[in-house]
Amino acid sequence: MARRGGDRWCRDGCRMTSIGEAWRLARQRIDRLDARRLLEHVAGCSHADLLAYPEKLLSALQTTRLDELVRRRAGGEPLAYLVGSAGFYGREFKITADVLIPRPETELLVELALERLQHMPEPVVADLGTGSGVLAVSLKCHSPQARVVAVDLSPAALAVARRNARLHDAAVRFIEGDWYGPLVGERFDLIVANPPYVAAADPHLENGGLPFEPRMALTDGVRGGDGLDCIRVIVGGAMRHLLPGGWLLIEHGYDQAVAVRHLLRRAGLGGAASWPDLSGIERVSGASLVTGGD
Ligand SMILES: C[S@@+](CC[C@H](N)C(=O)[O-])C[C@H]1O[C@@H](n2cnc3c(N)ncnc32)[C@H](O)[C@@H]1O
Repeated sequence: MARRGGDRWCRDGCRMTSIGEAWRLARQRIDRLDARRLLEHVAGCSHADLLAYPEKLLSALQTTRLDELVRRRAGGEPLAYLVGSAGFYGREFKITADVLIPRPETELLVELALERLQHMPEPVVADLGTGSGVLAVSLKCHSPQARVVAVDLSPAALAVARRNARLHDAAVRFIEGDWYGPLVGERFDLIVANPPYVAAADPHLENGGLPFEPRMALTDGVRGGDGLDCIRVIVGGAMRHLLPGGWLLIEHGYDQAVAVRHLLRRAGLGGAASWPDLSGIERVSGASLVTGGD
């Protein structure tokens, strides 16, 4: 490294940037917290390191990489895709552009599921549309006595889910297929699902970070539809796949609770109810198989 006019240069002529300077520059282009996360990711350091050693130099490769990530973040790409991970229910999960970024409101589904699992000695659980595997892995980790199977139509999403299961040492059976398709003849004490529920014509699909997420994770793609088609299939199959006393818990859109409760009752399930997320919005609805199945 050489010094010229106060700047620091590496041997092949590139200017070297300190962590403090890189952070300042990144903050001019993107949100302060995002800038910090990207810098920590690229430099492989903690927040405390950023504060304690602002003079530490980034390599030329790290500087280029940070610049590229800041550019992508400024273009709207979600942070989780840029750093390759996201937190969910107290654990860190690997995330790629093949899976939906787990949302905080989905943690409500885990809580409702765990409330039910604690009363079941050796429950069998299905997670339909597992994506990154956050639901299946969280349930298995918090309820090790459960046997958990997770289904997704996307082989790429399943690869991410398997990776997350290994990362958290969660023995989950992953299967590729269309909702209940690979589960013929199987019955469960608990079925959880966070299916695609955004109507294909919903303009939100073009806003914020949604254009970067897999379409098949967000919407059933039915033009002119109400976004409930996947939920209809999942609710419609519940009687054939729940054990007596078993529960179906399903996440849905902010304005779909009434419709989902109606579907649950019409399918013959009992005790249909909805639960609010932390913003007070009914986010999860569920019901149970009160009598024997068909
Ligand atoms: C909203 S994402 C949920 C991902 C994850 N469970 C979560 O909560 O973050 C919905 C998932 O359903 C999957 N999916 C879409 N259509 C499906 C189908 N017909 N059968 C099974 N999975 C499907 C998508 O690939 C996606 O991973």
